[in-house]
Amino acid sequence: MSEAIKQQIRDLLKQHNAVLLAHNYMRDEVQEIADITGDSLALSIEAAKTDAAVIVFCGVHFMAESAAILSPDKRVLLPRPDAGCPMADMVTVEELEQLKQQHPSVPVVTYVNSSAEVKAHSDICCTSANALKVVKSLAEDELIFVPDRNLGRWVAKFVPEKRFIFWQGFCPTHERMTVAAVLAKKAEHPDALFICHPECAPEVSALADHVCSTSGMYDYCRTNPSKKFIIGTEAGILYKLRQDNPDKEFILASPALICPNMKLTSLEDVLFALQTMSPVVTVADDIRVKAKKALDRMLAIPRD
Ligand code: 13P
Ligand code: SF4
Repeated sequence: MSEAIKQQIRDLLKQHNAVLLAHNYMRDEVQEIADITGDSLALSIEAAKTDAAVIVFCGVHFMAESAAILSPDKRVLLPRPDAGCPMADMVTVEELEQLKQQHPSVPVVTYVNSSAEVKAHSDICCTSANALKVVKSLAEDELIFVPDRNLGRWVAKFVPEKRFIFWQGFCPTHERMTVAAVLAKKAEHPDALFICHPECAPEVSALADHVCSTSGMYDYCRTNPSKKFIIGTEAGILYKLRQDNPDKEFILASPALICPNMKLTSLEDVLFALQTMSPVVTVADDIRVKAKKALDRMLAIPRD
């Protein structure tokens, strides 16, 4: 059954000159059929440069919006329009404008996990993979960091010369991982390294051997000689980690690490999107142009 759906998806992708992008947290079967999987930064870069006429974005709403901002001539499909991000919903333009008024001429660095409108009211975007570089690229020694307080606090540790004004947003999935859960896994597997995402609470990140974006985890686990890793991010990452490293063991740090939004998209949803060429994600032109400026400024920063 699922093989038949996969074949139909492949045929329709070809027929519509469409590319299937999937975030590293997607269900295994969706990652398996994707043309490109990646973290938020890699997928933004891909969305900006693809020649395809249609982008099928398997991820959450802000990611498809970023693709629509970067590729206005392409049709961007989000198979599950109800796949949102609670962290992105923790900041509105009105609230951000109020904070900006209290700190005039302080630049706003906005994590891509945010709405197009909030991006449009920001100076530069960042992802978890490039947040430190983005902050370092600013000439100012003060900045507003929106919306993830955990990513912000993690970056701030490396640039003590800068003063951060933190928005109090967070990822509910990553914040569900407790220190007690990590310590229990560490006690169970004393020979394993613990790696986590910077969206984790600071007291959890403090226990980590390495803190990085989802794609950073692939690189780290592939090149590190250790044979055992405790993974502190959304469970979807295990699919590729296990595929790429059959001789290594990966243990999820906590059973709470499941993002309900990232788990919504099924193969049936992808097929339906390709059959109906919907739901389409669009961004109004006035917002798009301003948001693109903040994304382009981020993308102009060399990756390495
Ligand atoms: P990255 O893939 O950029 O590490 O992002 C994690 C995330 O939470 C996306 O929603
Ligand atoms: Fe949002 Fe967290 Fe889910 Fe990512 S994992 S989409 S930040 S709720």
